[in-house]
Amino acid sequence: MKVFAHRGASGNFPENTKSAILEALKIGVDGIEVDIQSAIDDYMVIHDSWLDRTTNGTGKVNEFDATTIAKLDAGNGEQVPTLQQLLDWNNDKTLLNLELKHAFELEKFVSQLEQNISAGKISCANILVSSFDHHQLLWLKKRLPWLKIGALTSSIPINYAKFAQDLNAFSVHVDKNFINKAFADDAKQRGLEIYAYTVDKTQDIALMREYGIDGIFTNYPMQSKAYLLSLSNK
Ligand code: G3P
Ligand code: CA
Repeated sequence: MKVFAHRGASGNFPENTKSAILEALKIGVDGIEVDIQSAIDDYMVIHDSWLDRTTNGTGKVNEFDATTIAKLDAGNGEQVPTLQQLLDWNNDKTLLNLELKHAFELEKFVSQLEQNISAGKISCANILVSSFDHHQLLWLKKRLPWLKIGALTSSIPINYAKFAQDLNAFSVHVDKNFINKAFADDAKQRGLEIYAYTVDKTQDIALMREYGIDGIFTNYPMQSKAYLLSLSNK
């Protein structure tokens, strides 16, 4: 089962910051999940559409420019990274799952990905764009047919993973509280990977493994990896 660092190694470092991302890289995760919000002039790595919870700033991310946001403290004196900083730090070492939260003007996002691919900063295989906004995913998949997209849900749809297959998605990302064996089996039968979020407790990790889930998003990637290793050694 794959282990993705959720908002970086956010259980031990401020979420979506450089330290959380570098720690995840050090651990050797299968991928790093981060959240993307649009600022006025750039894409920022931050979960909420408001600055208030994770920084010492206040107000909506999309009402400030990146330079202003960079002056804020995102925890332990760290900054809110830009998408470009994330791509630079990662330098194609692992898969990046970019979860689009409130991201606008996606043509700019597309250009940035294409420029980074051309510059060798990231390979197509290491990009997975996910979102709860399936309209944006549909648009992106049409615009970039090679792009791996992950359809997010926090429900058990009547037709299970059909909505993700209809999007031509690579994967379906499901709230661990709304996942079961039937959903997992259906996703597999449709040729999709199925990942669960956010899975930190050993009991939940074991359950996801039992369901045949392909990967978990965890705030504690080191501990989760160690636990999975202990299970496979049994
Ligand atoms: O991408 C999986 C998960 O992160 C989605 O929920 O609120 O943690 O971004 P949230
Ligand atoms: Ca997320």
